[in-house]
Amino acid sequence: MSDTAPIEHPTWLTSGDFTQADEPLRLWQAWFDEAVKGEPRDPTAMSLATVDADGLPDIRTVLLKGVDERGFVFYTNIESAKGRELAANPKAALLFYWKSLNRQIRIRGPVERVTPEEADAYFATRPKGAQIGAWASQQSRPLESRLAFEKAVALYAAKYAIGAVPRPPHWSGYRIVPISMEFWHDRPFRLHDRIEFRRAALGEPWAKVRMYP
Ligand SMILES: Cc1cc2nc3c(=O)[nH]c(=O)nc-3n(C[C@H](O)[C@H](O)[C@H](O)COP(=O)(O)O)c2cc1C
Repeated sequence: MSDTAPIEHPTWLTSGDFTQADEPLRLWQAWFDEAVKGEPRDPTAMSLATVDADGLPDIRTVLLKGVDERGFVFYTNIESAKGRELAANPKAALLFYWKSLNRQIRIRGPVERVTPEEADAYFATRPKGAQIGAWASQQSRPLESRLAFEKAVALYAAKYAIGAVPRPPHWSGYRIVPISMEFWHDRPFRLHDRIEFRRAALGEPWAKVRMYP
């Protein structure tokens, strides 16, 4: 995911020879670029797993909105269930499963909030309807009726009818800093290729392990 023109990746990065790769973010980018071409529905969709206060796992889909060497960014309501879970335990797992490519990438690591400036910049690119929705939705809290939500949307639409919509204080982004990235690619006879990259922390060197599928 980048704003620059797509780069051509060597075929070994996107083929069954991907296990030669020694830089997982580069391998992620090569597979993601293939997914953008080959996955017709939401190639940026990823499952985000967190744990609640009882240690019970929780999982939902979010959209990837940015990636660089620091990690993988998504945006949400920070008072939602996921926001509360991440406040208590700032660690998460991500899963990309591109069905059309039959490839899976698992990512795990600590989570940090993006800066207010980053969140403002991304919020400003959203369509106005989505900006109003961010004000109107008390995500993950009980809603008495659809009408109550529509009233809240109408209220904020009127409030911000003129000019730019500011970012709500309860809306921001999180960055998952990868310390583990596992790549899985199907092969004939279920002899799938599977490699995991691990590192102690951001900036530390990656170690690569090939695993039984
Ligand atoms: C394809 C897809 C993309 C989604 N993207 C987001 C997203 O980027 N941010 C978000 O807050 N919710 C997104 N959702 C909704 C979440 O899956 C979830 O229902 C919502 O965030 C509440 O989750 P929580 O109660 O665990 O916090 C998406 C759902 C789907 C199916």
